[in-house]
Order: sequence, then structure tokens, then C-alpha cells
Amino acid sequence: MDLELLNTKIAGIERETAEATQKVTSIDALRSLDSAVLGKTGSLGGLIANIKEFPADQRGQVGKLVNEAKGRIKSVLDARMAELQQAAASASDEESKWFDPTLPGNVRPMGSVHPVTAVQWEIERLFERLGFTVEDGPEMESEYNNFEALNIPASHPARDMQDTFWLANGMVLRTHTSPVQHRSMKKFGAPLRVIAPGRCFRYETIDASHENTFHQVEGLMIDRDIGLPHLIAMAKMLLTEVMQREVTVRVRPGYFPFVEPGIEIDMNCAICGGKKCPTCKYSGWVEILPAGMVHPNVLRAGGIDPDEWSGFAFGLGLTRLAMMKYGIGDIRILNSGDLRALVAPQRMGGPIIVDKTTKSRAVSEPRP
Ligand code: DAH
Repeated sequence: MDLELLNTKIAGIERETAEATQKVTSIDALRSLDSAVLGKTGSLGGLIANIKEFPADQRGQVGKLVNEAKGRIKSVLDARMAELQQAAASASDEESKWFDPTLPGNVRPMGSVHPVTAVQWEIERLFERLGFTVEDGPEMESEYNNFEALNIPASHPARDMQDTFWLANGMVLRTHTSPVQHRSMKKFGAPLRVIAPGRCFRYETIDASHENTFHQVEGLMIDRDIGLPHLIAMAKMLLTEVMQREVTVRVRPGYFPFVEPGIEIDMNCAICGGKKCPTCKYSGWVEILPAGMVHPNVLRAGGIDPDEWSGFAFGLGLTRLAMMKYGIGDIRILNSGDLRALVAPQRMGGPIIVDKTTKSRAVSEPRP
């Protein structure tokens, strides 16, 4: 290579770089161009490596030519860099004019409480307003608390009404929340207002309306001169509040050893609106609230004098009520972790219709 050829090469590189610089539209691309030209192995920077090809007395001249060209190219690149930086800054200014930091942005779905929990919390709030205490009881119960204290001795045929899980230690998985009645009487005496929501267990064959694990809410109110009208009025208010509609109730006699008289409070079916469907067994009514006046033996077992005090008790089918409220037609999905059941409380008014028999599950879309 001689000096003339070097000059031609440098001029070519300068021209090409100037053209390329104008075409570049991003800061990153400009940086790449910079190193492709000026870097050690770049089109211009690499020319220094050829310096040994020149006679010793020309090498100073070669270095000078290359360095001067570097300076000119650098100032072209720098000018373009300033332009691009300026453009980026004003774009972000523009963006900040419409950016609203109070908007939620791309929030991931946060999950929600289980439908049964949602209804349980509603009922707890309601009864707290009425002066009731919310009590808890163990899921593993003594045979005495689950049966005997509730006027169901070992020989009593009513034991057969509840298929019980017996444990190796002689205890039972509570078949209902009623043992909390006895526990509360012992704990608080009379007068008394408690509710006790919780999980219950029965040795059931599972189908669309039976589960081995389900929820109830026990209610107990003991005072002077408590009668059935208090119970029925409270039941109607409870169901109306939870269902957020005017609920019609029907009262039938029912048998439970721990109450006398015992009644069944039915609610008109929310799934079919009383038109008769599989959920209400084509009757238009759903058994939701077995109840009654606390049996004197139960009061006595709890240390309360039945001549002085009377009370009502109920055992609300919490799981069933949640199914009614959210239009869930199959109890099995509640313990299955089916996410579509879990978002039901968020949807309010967009019921989930589950039809296991056809395997098709129509799920309404969440409201915007
Ligand atoms: N413990 C009963 C059951 O699970 C339901 C029940 C009926 C509870 C009547 C009550 C009641 O408190 O008064 O079948």
C-alpha cells in the first residue's frame, strides 16, 4: 500500500460512514456503527495494523492521516448521537404527558376467596351485628360431644342418620357443627348467642349433591321466652340477606334428637326460581336450614336450667347455600380446586353453570 491508496481508502470510509450515520435511527445502532468503523478491527481503526507495510519515514504520516480521519468521523457520529438523544428525550416527555400512575396497569388476576368462605364471612358479619359470638370447634370431636351431649345416646337410632368416620383413637370426625352448641353452653352459660361455622365430615357416597367434607353454620340463641317465631324471622332475614333477594321460606316439621319441636326451613329454589329442577329435586324448594327449639336434655347437659331458659338452634347447610348463591350445580367442584368455582364470588351475577353429566361446563365470562 502507498500513501495515495491510503488516502483513497480513507476518503471512501469517510463517505460511507457519513451516509450510514444519517440512516441510523437508534442510539444502539449508532454505537454499533461507531465500533464497526473506529474500533481496533474496524474499517478505519484496522488500517493502523497495516502501518508496517509503509517505509519507516512514512509511518508518522500514515498515523497522522488515520488519526485526523478518525477525528472527523467521530464528530459526524457525535452530532448524530446528539440528535438521537434529543429525539429520545422528547419522546419520553411526550409519554409522561399521558402516563397516569394511578391506573392499575397490567395487574395479574389476584385470586379470590372460596365461595363457601365468602358466604361464611357474610354470615359472620350479619350475626355479629345481631350480637352473636363466632365460635370455633375442633374437627376431631369426642363421641360424647358429637352425640351424647346432643341427646343422641349410643343406642339411639338417630345415630344412623349420620354416617360417621370413626377414628382409631375412639374420637370421630364431627358429623355436624352441633357439638359447638354443647361447648358454648359450657363455656358461656345462659343467656347465649353464638354461631359456629365449620367443616363437617360424613361417610357419604359422593355425587352432585353429596360430599364427605362440607360446611355448616351452627346457630344457638338462649334467653328467656325464646320461641319459634324468633327462629323463623331470623331464618328469613338470614337467607334474604345472603341471597340478596326476597326469599320465601316454608316450614315443615323435622326430627332431630337435640330439638323439640324440630323443623325444616326450606327456601324457594334459586337455581330454577321455583320452576322445579334437579337441584331442588323437582319440588321448587331446597332444604337449607334444619332447626328447632333446644331440647331440655341438651340444655341440662350444657348446665343450663330448662325451666328458666329456652332457646333455638339451627344447622345451616353453608355449602349448599353457597352453591345456591353462586349457581354452582355440582358440589364436587367446591373441593376440587376448580379455579372457575373460586372466582365465582368475584363474578356476582355471572353464575357458573356446571353440568357434569354432559361434561360440558358453561362458565359465564367475568364482568369487565
Ligand atoms: N346437626 C344437624 C345435621 O347436621 C342439623 C341441625 C338440625 C342442627 C337442627 C341444629 C338443629 O342445630 O336445631 O343434620
